[in-house]
Amino acid sequence: MKSMRIAELLRTPGDGRDVVVKGWVRTKRGNKNVAFIAMNDGSCVSNIQIVVDLASFDESLLKQITTGACIRVDGRLVESLGSGQGVEVQASKIEIYGTADPETYPLQKKGHSLEFLRDIAYLRPRTNTFGAILRIRHAMAYAIHKYFNDRGFYYLHTPLITGSDAEGAGAMFQVTTLDLENLPRTEEGKVDYTQDFFGKECNLTVSGQLEGELGALSIGQIYTFGPTFRAENSNTPRHLAEFWMIEPEMAFYELEDNMNLAEDFLKYLVRYALENCKEDLEFMNKMWDNELIDRLKFVVENDFCRVDYTEAIGILKASGRKFEFPCDWGCDLQSEHERYLVEEHFKRPVILINYPKEIKAFYMKQNDDGKTVRAMDVLFPKIGEIIGGSEREADYGKLSARVKELGININDIWWYLDTRRWGSAPHSGFGLGFERLLLFVTGMTNIRDVIPFPRTPKNAEF
Ligand code: 4AD
Ligand code: MG
Repeated sequence: MKSMRIAELLRTPGDGRDVVVKGWVRTKRGNKNVAFIAMNDGSCVSNIQIVVDLASFDESLLKQITTGACIRVDGRLVESLGSGQGVEVQASKIEIYGTADPETYPLQKKGHSLEFLRDIAYLRPRTNTFGAILRIRHAMAYAIHKYFNDRGFYYLHTPLITGSDAEGAGAMFQVTTLDLENLPRTEEGKVDYTQDFFGKECNLTVSGQLEGELGALSIGQIYTFGPTFRAENSNTPRHLAEFWMIEPEMAFYELEDNMNLAEDFLKYLVRYALENCKEDLEFMNKMWDNELIDRLKFVVENDFCRVDYTEAIGILKASGRKFEFPCDWGCDLQSEHERYLVEEHFKRPVILINYPKEIKAFYMKQNDDGKTVRAMDVLFPKIGEIIGGSEREADYGKLSARVKELGININDIWWYLDTRRWGSAPHSGFGLGFERLLLFVTGMTNIRDVIPFPRTPKNAEF
């Protein structure tokens, strides 16, 4: 007989039908006549209760049913007499797939700290919290593809290995097959990359945007959704060395259109979570953050504020608040500034636009004032920056001048500049940090807890 997942079993009437269920034992309790096994298979937060009439089972088999063991149960699905559960399974046969020695299995009790679970990240998906987070993560990934597909965007696969370091978004991880103990040298004594795998110096990408723009300027509207890599040594609760990013890029979009898309997209995703991840969100709300669901609803129901960088600096300076970092015009905003604007001043998500060109990437469209660019950052409560984007500079002359000014190597991005030589068009795009989105949606506060296998400085064990 085909086995059923627990999520499905719990929706099935307890009419005595035969069922097969497979999963991991959470707890076993009972008396001398009967044992109650709480079993979970990761399909939902709830466990199914297995009722075992001890007289019909071998004692040696029952002994092996301990927390963490994996079992198969054949039995009858019946209405539960105990309060709380709708149905339970009366076991007629139990098979042990894998035992879990109580002396060594690390997840014996409930309520382990997140720090402890980070140290055993390879096992933490077996907890309710990480089960919920992984299911929400999946739902968000699905919703992202659905959102764009339903609106005529194409999923573009941009390369992970790149020969250009033009984005300037952060330090890069080098990719090489050269023998590090015995590097080939040029006559000037530099490393001879012509002998490397790609015949040039290559890195893991920090963003798919530059290639994404090629997509937008040919098939109109694209999005990327893949891992990106940044070798910054920033050990913060909001940075990963390997994180996933969603980067839509649209021809004929100006900054205003870009902002509208970003706001609609974020609201869609949060609404999708509220409607489709109800049980998991309720669990997270109860266990970790009592204001989570209210905060999610608030974001869906309210307009984001759209504010000029210059105005924001004025607000920060007038706040009388002592910030750790300076906030003079020209400074990059720190998380403390972003959160002040969002959580205390505007009390809602903020889209900050028109940043000084010095603190933003070379490709952003230059404003007529000669000082600012058509950048936009979306700032969220508890998170700070969740999206970074801009209208792109479409003018070949202006873009080339900026590239020269910044000393970027033309040999790295001649192909990018060429898009502005032939059939250039106004276009815009942005990047949403997938894990930052998940921090917001799950209410977690450390980014290491919303990705299955976090990569951070000095941490790539599993
Ligand atoms: O602001 P960023 O650096 O923008 C870009 O990479 C542009 N190419 C995007 C575009 O216009 N297509 O990064 C975009 C977002 C940030 O707003 C943040 O949410 C997330 O990516 N992010 C990180 N998330 C986790 N760990 C890190 N180290 C991150 N760096 C950026
Ligand atoms: Mg940014």
